[in-house]
Amino acid sequence: MDLFQKCYDFEAADMGRAIGVYPFFKSMEHCFGPQAIYNGRRVIVICSNDYLGLTNDSRVKQAAKQATDRLGTGCTGSRLLNGNTIIHDQLEREFADFLGKEDALVFSTGFLTNYGVISCLAEKGSFIISDTENHGSIVAGCRGSRATTVKYHHNDMSDLKKVLGELPQDSAKLIVTDGVFSMSGDIVDLNELITIKKQFPGTYLYLDDAHGIGVLGDQGRGTANYFGLTEGVDLIMATLSKSFASIGGIVTGPRKIIDYIRHHSQGFILSAAIPPASAAAALKALEIMKTEPQIFDRLWQNTSYIHDGFRRLGLSYIESKMPIISIFVGDEGKAVQLVKALFERDVFATPVLYPAVPYGQAVIRTSFTASHTTEDLDKVLKAFGEVAPEFGILKSQTEVPKKFVHRARAWNFDALFNSKEV
Ligand SMILES: Cc1ncc(COP(=O)(O)O)c(C=O)c1O
Repeated sequence: MDLFQKCYDFEAADMGRAIGVYPFFKSMEHCFGPQAIYNGRRVIVICSNDYLGLTNDSRVKQAAKQATDRLGTGCTGSRLLNGNTIIHDQLEREFADFLGKEDALVFSTGFLTNYGVISCLAEKGSFIISDTENHGSIVAGCRGSRATTVKYHHNDMSDLKKVLGELPQDSAKLIVTDGVFSMSGDIVDLNELITIKKQFPGTYLYLDDAHGIGVLGDQGRGTANYFGLTEGVDLIMATLSKSFASIGGIVTGPRKIIDYIRHHSQGFILSAAIPPASAAAALKALEIMKTEPQIFDRLWQNTSYIHDGFRRLGLSYIESKMPIISIFVGDEGKAVQLVKALFERDVFATPVLYPAVPYGQAVIRTSFTASHTTEDLDKVLKAFGEVAPEFGILKSQTEVPKKFVHRARAWNFDALFNSKEV
């Protein structure tokens, strides 16, 4: 068996490029907030996670520039050793305060935060109890730990209770869940989850709130705050790569737990710090969230406008309350053709394919921001209105599956381009 053979055999991406339907790695040439130039074409972007539209905010950009002038472009090492700055420290203090927790720790990405915290805390002999639709970085953290991972059905609290009941009573347990699930926009049933957690002593809760913080709750304080249950969540994780207009991840919680992670997590210790510009951008974004509540009003107005529009068009999409709306397509080939048709109408959307969703259940995940104008949203609705019947994405043509169940079929990327629909 040759290690590299699979790489030589992998032809799907080249085929996709050759026939002009390859949907990935589009290179942005210029950014104007919710619009950008790709391939010389100005398009409305509906696939970013820039929920508050702050990545192109002049104050955020200015903060990043000032930090670069003062501290340089990179940190050239781990924060533990040489890579820490006063801006990282300030960001942690302000973030912990914002979320009502004692302490916080900034990692280099959200992925590394999940990986680094879960693998560091859940040791051999302990159990991680994980929602089946948790983000891949949580799955990586579970695999990287030496604990046993058991899964419960997506957001199904009676299954969680059953799973917990089957574990040894005196074992160490960590429940891990997304606050807002990134593909469906589902919000975790936190009330019930915390009620159940309390019935099993020695069980802690880690909340990945990458899509909740900066969106939900009082001025973006996230899912736990939205439910009024911050105290009931032991550790809350956020990413800086979405509403915070930057890059990095952050975990907040009790001082002693965070300090342990600070000195033991490989994902933290063995990776270089985010640049000062990134820390400063996130800090400025946080300041804007705390002082300008109207930015959230705009986000929610746009969210309800687009939900109403999609409903009026009769699109088949996963119901959610969030600015994330996933339109169900099914066939992978059809999904890549659909995003091409949208791009030709100046709308940039991306397909979400296996393994991010189950095989044969491709979706177009759209997301909307505070900075989209009504005119942008109307153009998006017009484009969907034009392509929907041809691609069979109307409710009258296709139904969203009740559950996103992985089919027992190994993914072969080639299926994307061998699909009968292409
Ligand atoms: C739920 C969730 N957790 C974690 C991450 C990883 O965050 P980052 O992009 O900052 O690495 C993402 C990113 O998409 C996410 O959606």
